[in-house]
Amino acid sequence: MKIVNIEKMKEIDKRAYEKYKINEILLMENAAISSYNLLKENFKLKKEKIFIICGIGNNGGDGLALARKLYSENFNVSYYIIGNEEKYSQISKINLEILKNINIKREKDYEEGLEKATLIIDAIFGIGLRRNIEGEYFEIINKINNSNKKIVSLDIPSGINGDNGKIMGTAVKSTYTIAFGALKYGNILYPGCEYNGEISLSKISFPVENYNDIKTNINLPLEIPLRNENSHKDSFGKVVFLAGSKKYLGAPIFSTMGFLKSGGGYARLITSKSIINILSTNAKEIVYFGMSENESGGISFKNIDKIKEIFLQNKMIVVGPGISITEDNRKIIREIINLDVPILFDADALTIISKDINILYNRKNKTILTPHLGELSRLLNISIEKINKNRVEICKEFAVKYGVILVVKIARTEIYYPNGEIFINLSGNSALATAGSGDVLTGVIASQYILGLSIEEAVRQGVFLHGFTADIIAKNKGKDGVIASDLLEYLPIAMKKIRK
Ligand code: ACO
Repeated sequence: MKIVNIEKMKEIDKRAYEKYKINEILLMENAAISSYNLLKENFKLKKEKIFIICGIGNNGGDGLALARKLYSENFNVSYYIIGNEEKYSQISKINLEILKNINIKREKDYEEGLEKATLIIDAIFGIGLRRNIEGEYFEIINKINNSNKKIVSLDIPSGINGDNGKIMGTAVKSTYTIAFGALKYGNILYPGCEYNGEISLSKISFPVENYNDIKTNINLPLEIPLRNENSHKDSFGKVVFLAGSKKYLGAPIFSTMGFLKSGGGYARLITSKSIINILSTNAKEIVYFGMSENESGGISFKNIDKIKEIFLQNKMIVVGPGISITEDNRKIIREIINLDVPILFDADALTIISKDINILYNRKNKTILTPHLGELSRLLNISIEKINKNRVEICKEFAVKYGVILVVKIARTEIYYPNGEIFINLSGNSALATAGSGDVLTGVIASQYILGLSIEEAVRQGVFLHGFTADIIAKNKGKDGVIASDLLEYLPIAMKKIRK
């Protein structure tokens, strides 16, 4: 499913008319008819008293056309217009004129309309919302929200910014939203996504080719290649992890075990020599390569030749979970950056790279970066606050510029590819906000690659699977008290469900 920002939506609209000669009045009629059909399907409409609140843009026009459609099907429908109707666009005016000629009640007092209604349709603002909501608009939206009635929003709940999901002062909290043309970022990103209620998409008769240049998608699970029964441990092995230090003992375990529990067969871990005894009592299935240490308990740079030799025997490398930020690690990363193997950099490796960002240009093979917002802020050298104002554009530019796959770990994880493609992941929940969860993700991405997906697919699949595992846990035992070990426990179950 495709996702657009406001600019792209306008481009698609314009193209519908200029290239395919589908004019706006047709689109508005399609929006109204498909909304009617979806409402019938989802609300089993029978005796509802439907009150449609229309703004003065095309969203309002969609509401007026829907009123006419409902009236023609004998529904009890009334409408109210907020704002100066003199300013209506040409097509909305056409719909208003028609309504004036027929017997649909226009409410003079919206409070009366709200009082009588059993179903409220919000057609106040779509993606044309330009500034914060104030005055009578603010009042009416809050009254809609306090009405305790079922609320349906057309296109996007009024008050949500279509580009970033921000609440512009206040917003309609809907039961159901019918998006037109394509899903908007505001329908998908937090906090806006919490205002949709259920959501359906009506393509309002845009031809499929009108969507060809949209590069943002919802991340859906992919088919994982079947396990070859005639296999041995290294058939699903050949991933090496550089992880852990005296300070961080959990990260290397979660990372490597995440790999094994999601289909990997052989995890090699390069880590500080002195912690192997402790690690191996907790994770016996890992093959350890102990390295001499520096004074802070991290791996010493003196091991670089050995590290490179092991790295080159593998199909994929994961660098970073719990390695600590040291000068030795900085030198190690500088040395391994040009190896011709896919590398996933996580955690401390990202902080190290952020001080040395141009080394990313030295890569000969695929690079995956998996930052949380703090690490992303360091990588970009931009504050979290500034990033969040325009995150999608900033991250897209970064991934393209440095040729990396960027996985931004937030409530709805975003994956940016060097070709400008973006995937937004909807699986997962707040149970994932727990220590070690990000480490598990690194192993899960690696396993999906080893099972036969391409690097690009493995990242999408890994992110989906990681979230999906948390969804299964939440169903079984709730979201509280979930720890990274629970993710490990449930990964095989999640894999099995996805394979079905
Ligand atoms: N306070 C008060 N008024 C405001 C505020 C605010 N904070 N913000 C914006 N407005 C007013 C403005 O006056 C603006 O009108 P203007 O453009 O004349 O200045 C108006 O609200 C914008 O209203 P919208 O209905 O949100 O914007 P628009 O007229 O662009 O219609 C549409 C948006 C078409 C419904 C949109 O959501 C969309 O593009 N949907 C998807 C694709 C689609 O439906 N395409 C078909 C187009 S034709 C059709 O309507 C189906």
